[in-house]
Amino acid sequence: MRFSGKVALVTGSAMGIGREIAYRLASEGASTVLFDLSDKVFETAEEIRKLGVKVLAFKGDVTNKQDVEKAVSETLKNFGKIDILVNNAGIYPFKPFLEMTEEEWDKVMNVNVKGTFYFTKAVAPIMVKNNYGRIINISSIAAIVGFPALTHYCASKAAIVGFTRALALELARFNITVNAVAPGPIETPGTKAIITPQALEATVKAIPVGRMGLPSDIAAVVAFLASDEASFITGALIVADGGYTAQ
Ligand SMILES: NC(=O)c1ccc[n+]([C@@H]2O[C@H](COP(=O)([O-])OP(=O)(O)OC[C@H]3O[C@@H](n4cnc5c(N)ncnc54)[C@H](O)[C@@H]3O)[C@@H](O)[C@H]2O)c1
Repeated sequence: MRFSGKVALVTGSAMGIGREIAYRLASEGASTVLFDLSDKVFETAEEIRKLGVKVLAFKGDVTNKQDVEKAVSETLKNFGKIDILVNNAGIYPFKPFLEMTEEEWDKVMNVNVKGTFYFTKAVAPIMVKNNYGRIINISSIAAIVGFPALTHYCASKAAIVGFTRALALELARFNITVNAVAPGPIETPGTKAIITPQALEATVKAIPVGRMGLPSDIAAVVAFLASDEASFITGALIVADGGYTAQ
């Protein structure tokens, strides 16, 4: 129960990696706040509530400042603080660069980067006041190696790494750590919707451990970074990719 007495807010937590992170933090005692575009966020909240922890769920868009500020102020009203922020909401629509419109570029940068900015901007002052915080940003191995048809996504996930490092320096003196996680290919509703059986086979072949990652592989890393055992780790990018980028 590493997180009893702690309050954790996870974005993009209706399904996939974010849902698993929220579930993991809650299963170790955190009061948990879910925020997602999808109505499914309320179902996920019901499931997590069964663990016996307090749960709040908000339907909202990370690119909408009002949605973000409302969720953060309601959380403060209910729980009085936010100890752990996980910026997980993200999109990865494949589009070759030569066909990409400015709107498509902006959409990915807005959700993946601006959304992280909005949430961090709203939550960091609360953490500073409490002299405690754990901010964990979900980047990707796309910040390290290129993927065709994902120029916007690769740029956005590299931006998250730069943001993480610089913010870690600014917030270290307030007992706040800021880290990023770079998942390799993970089985989620998002990836299942776009991957063909052939692409899945090729992807698994490219992963040295010989399997796709699971959301729980990432939730375990996030839980460690959110714990007090990780208090000397800040500004880091932790890769969890089954060896994909080690080759
Ligand atoms: N799945 C992978 O292989 C993989 C690999 C590396 C990094 N990641 C990153 O992990 C994160 C989660 O990915 P996933 O595969 O679980 O995705 P997913 O599509 O399965 O789930 C993403 C969740 O985020 C929500 N969401 C999307 N846009 C939103 C917005 N504007 N505001 C609020 N919520 C929003 C969706 O409704 C959904 O519930 C993303 O940041 C992604 O880039 C995923």
